[in-house]
Amino acid sequence: MLSDRLLENLNLLTLRLQSAIAEFGTGNVLLSLLAIAATAVVADYAHMLYLRSRMPPGPFPLPIVGNTLSLPDNKPWIYFEALSKQYQTPLITFWIGRNPTVWINDAWCAQELFEKKAQIYASRPRMVVFGELGTGQSNLVTMRILNSADRDHWRIHRKLMHLGVGIQSVRGYREVQNNESKVVGLDFLRAPEHYVKHLERYATSVVSIIAFGRRVASYDDPIITEVIALMQLAAELNVPGKSFPMLLETFPFLARFPSFMPWFRGLGNRNQKGGHYFFHTLAQEAVERYDQLSPSEQAAIPTPYCKTLNSEAAKYNLPLDELSSLTGNLFGAGADTSSSTLVTFVLACCAFPEAMHKAQAELDAVVGPNRSPHWDDSPSLPYINAFVKEVLRWRSVAIIGGQPHSPTQDDSYNGWLIPAGAWVQGNLWAIHRHEREFPDPDRFYPDRYLADNPSRRPFPGDKGYMTFGWGRRVCSGQALAEQGTWITVARLLWGFDIRKARDPDTGAEIDVDIFAYTNGLNMRPQPFRCAIVPRSEEIRAALVREGEQALRDLKVLDGESRYRMSTFYQEQRRKYKEEPVLDENGNVKVVRVK
Ligand SMILES: *[C@@H]1O[C@H](CO)[C@@H](O)[C@H](O)[C@H]1NC(C)=O
Repeated sequence: MLSDRLLENLNLLTLRLQSAIAEFGTGNVLLSLLAIAATAVVADYAHMLYLRSRMPPGPFPLPIVGNTLSLPDNKPWIYFEALSKQYQTPLITFWIGRNPTVWINDAWCAQELFEKKAQIYASRPRMVVFGELGTGQSNLVTMRILNSADRDHWRIHRKLMHLGVGIQSVRGYREVQNNESKVVGLDFLRAPEHYVKHLERYATSVVSIIAFGRRVASYDDPIITEVIALMQLAAELNVPGKSFPMLLETFPFLARFPSFMPWFRGLGNRNQKGGHYFFHTLAQEAVERYDQLSPSEQAAIPTPYCKTLNSEAAKYNLPLDELSSLTGNLFGAGADTSSSTLVTFVLACCAFPEAMHKAQAELDAVVGPNRSPHWDDSPSLPYINAFVKEVLRWRSVAIIGGQPHSPTQDDSYNGWLIPAGAWVQGNLWAIHRHEREFPDPDRFYPDRYLADNPSRRPFPGDKGYMTFGWGRRVCSGQALAEQGTWITVARLLWGFDIRKARDPDTGAEIDVDIFAYTNGLNMRPQPFRCAIVPRSEEIRAALVREGEQALRDLKVLDGESRYRMSTFYQEQRRKYKEEPVLDENGNVKVVRVK
């Protein structure tokens, strides 16, 4: 860019500063330096304004800081939705420092850009906090696709991810999801007040079984709390903000300073590679464990993803930290998101009991009280199918559509320029609350997905929601997540009345707030109280019978890990005061690192 060149020249000039001072005197040199800096700022700003005149509308940017200062303290997606209404355009340009970001607030526009032009929108923009200081460039999530080597690299990762959770593999995980969701039924009976923890355990256990062939039996298992806390931190590092560390996106040059500078606080361990080694160590442990099982035990469980990866690794010659990043991503993308979706489901039942009752009437007619529903029932359960869609639409977890896309060449929409490299974000909050597609959008109303309902509106694609993102960056685990959400929602609706809690003294219902959500990129309801009671004695008996059978069936997957994420990295360092790296056999060894 023009301004970058100017800044480079400025650097050259400072190098010559000393000789200049000697020759012309301090005052004169300072003055000329000031003049040059001012010219650089003016030229840069002129370039910003020129771009702005060609881009989608948005608030007026300031030099250097752009629009960053007008960001709200949290939930910027609401602000961008409001801007889109104010300017009456599906696209909004918002300057994060000197970088334009484009926000898509309309389903049809998202379809037009991300799906129909998937080829050029497959890349990611430069992301300082989440990418450069975080996952790096060799993680599928943040990987940029700027040339054909990048494309090949990205394809390999995508292919390996699909081996694990792609649409072909997903059916193989059905029974595990089914058994684990039966355990949730049992947990809801025994300790309903801990419903959030049960849902977290369920979601973490399913990904742990898929990744490592080992279930997570207790919600006190540190892997749950650690992985979920890590993901919630990571999710906050994705939301544009005007305080550090997110302010680093506005002033990317600050990222070049040493990591003890105060603005890096709040990044956690993200600019260290500890996570890779942690997941790699877990994977090694899991492969050893799996290899010790008898053939009949192996046949009873899905092949762990780390085992599959192990045998595929040689083909692609990927470094081990990249292989283990794929396993790590399973946790990153699958645990917190799936459990948050189910907490949203509980909230919806409390706030909109009429939808829950309608769903239960359908389940009573089709399934009856002596067994819980199964996917095979799904063709006779149109309301349940609609209900699950509505859960995914009503409060979508990845509320700004996951990480931003970025066009690899200049693009245009409606005559507006979307420059190559721009940060383009699909604002699911706005898309899923658009009155044109979803009348009365905050109402949880599964009926809107039924064929002849007057509230049903056209929507791009065949799902009726865009919860899992778009194009080539669509969530790899979509089919797995939809399958798991379906069985768990159907089973819990069948088994329980889920309603507002009552005040023990007054007996009055305690209201729930359908807008009280967390601020991260993966949002979930703020904690709320509710009452969860089995719907009948017959149903309770079936829940117990099925839950206990599931626990017996899952026994083969029980096991404990020797490792804890919270202590793993520190232990490695404390022990040796050095950094862990991988040796040529893929074992963690520790070397002195400067
Ligand atoms: C889960 O449950 C089914 C029966 O519903 C059973 O056939 C299967 O083997 C179980 N086991 C595992 C590990 O999921």
